Amino acid sequence: MPANKPKFYLTTPIYYTNGLPHIGHTYSTIVCDTIRRYKRMRGFDVIMTTGTDEHGVNVERSAKKAGVSEAEFVAKMAAEWKALWDELGIQGDEFIRTTDLKHAHTVQWLFKLCRENGFVYPGHYTGQYCIYDNAYVDVKAGENCPDCGRPTETITEPNYFFKLSAFQKPLLDWYAKHPDFIQPESRRNEVLSFVEGGLRDLSITRTTIRWGIPVPGEEPHVFYVWFDALTAYLSAVGGPNYEKLGFWPADIHLVGKEIIRFHAVYWPAFLMAAGLPLPKQIWAHGWLLMDSAKMSKSVGNVVRPRPIVHVLGMDALRYYLLRETVFGQDGNFSYDALVQRYNSDLANGLGNFASRTAAMIERNCSGKVPQPGALQPQEEALAKQAQAAVGEVLELYDKLGFSRALELIWSLIAAADKYLASEQPWTLSSSEADNQRRGTILWTAAEVLRVATALAHPVLPARRWANRRHFFRALKKRKPLRGWKPWKTKRKSNPRRLRRPRLQARPLRVALLPPQRLLPRRKLASRILPKSKCAWARSRPPSASSARTNC
Ligand code: MSP
Repeated sequence: MPANKPKFYLTTPIYYTNGLPHIGHTYSTIVCDTIRRYKRMRGFDVIMTTGTDEHGVNVERSAKKAGVSEAEFVAKMAAEWKALWDELGIQGDEFIRTTDLKHAHTVQWLFKLCRENGFVYPGHYTGQYCIYDNAYVDVKAGENCPDCGRPTETITEPNYFFKLSAFQKPLLDWYAKHPDFIQPESRRNEVLSFVEGGLRDLSITRTTIRWGIPVPGEEPHVFYVWFDALTAYLSAVGGPNYEKLGFWPADIHLVGKEIIRFHAVYWPAFLMAAGLPLPKQIWAHGWLLMDSAKMSKSVGNVVRPRPIVHVLGMDALRYYLLRETVFGQDGNFSYDALVQRYNSDLANGLGNFASRTAAMIERNCSGKVPQPGALQPQEEALAKQAQAAVGEVLELYDKLGFSRALELIWSLIAAADKYLASEQPWTLSSSEADNQRRGTILWTAAEVLRVATALAHPVLPARRWANRRHFFRALKKRKPLRGWKPWKTKRKSNPRRLRRPRLQARPLRVALLPPQRLLPRRKLASRILPKSKCAWARSRPPSASSARTNC
């Protein structure tokens, strides 16, 4: 790896271990994985971290209920989370657990820095605490949590406070100087008005909880979950020695909208207090809703990713989540919409175009992409569209505009499909002139396929739409991609490329999939998966065994 590669560090939230991942958690992680793959394609040295948030009273209670120690409980849950990400092909670089020793050292170090700089003091706190969200909430005794609607508890305890109130001005100055720090705009406005309304000091330790990282020399104090959890972003990339690895400050913390305040207010304030660099951007995405409600275990409307992946494959789930929801906004999850997207865009759109192209090249050119002859205006038009798509899609990926990016890629595929239908290469004879014309048409189709699958790769990494390695070598060679001219055919400017069109470097059998239908069409979920038989058509989470047998 060349030493001069620019570094890029992005994070998912670290997930609570008192439950297993549903499609909402999967969404956050898939988005990060997509960004990671995209940044790698653009030549960055990327680190993506995810992990588990393992402390707090919830874990104490769940472990007790399960009849095991807290350590045993979280180890089992963390392994489950990790296994799922592996199974879904998510390529995290570092899985951080808040029970890792290196994490505990980082939290204690950060606390020490904040304390030495005068931003930590001892006190007593009484308040309504939501044990489900692990946060004090602003309600009266006896009232429910305003976020999750569940009962709150009154807690009074000695603890250490962080002087958040001292950071109102520094934070507002920071937001003003870094207008892109909080994304999207709506969340930025929300955070700004929260901070402008005044900040209260924060309790950052507990004496009522056992299961947490001890505050050195101050036992029985343990760290409050957010001071502990947020620090995971730093402990994942070296902790106190972060400068050695060179990945801190993070480029993007990707979070759900409900935890934007912790990330855009508390976290930068902790870092400012410690004199450490701040992350570059906090990006809050919306929720995946099921029947207009946020998925949650307590409501019983969670959708699990495993059975979906088992039936349709990982690419289908990734494509659906990123295409259907405008990033940053809430989106609705529906099985029927998922299957419809799969059928129309993957089986019929890309799948059909790839199979047709491969079949014709196999039949007419012994599986090798033919040499193109002179390009006609219709090829030039497609070339222009492909070229424009490359620039626009990269720009959209940079702004995390996944849905629009995929829409553009698919309109390129649709245009190429239309082009094949109107050129009808199958009607051409075996005369010399027709052979050459057919060669040009098939070369054009293969070239569009190469461009489209390369552009879609960050979202669709699993399916062998074409020989990706080969495609990506072609893409990677042209760094930076901006300004990349996939259609350059002028002999003068690049004679080698004309002689050896990129797909031709290898026989088609290697470069493209065999000419069979790439993806079978699926019936609507509700029809192929009757509610009584198939767990994933139910609104309840499926059991592992039903998912396996019926889906
Ligand atoms: N442990 C904290 C985060 C600490 S980060 C330092 C936490 N964990 S969580 O398990 O509740 O996961 C929250 C994250 O999961 C959300 O921020 C969001 O990214 C994702 N989602 C959970 N439910 C979701 C939906 N229904 N839709 C989309 N994302 C959702 O909060």
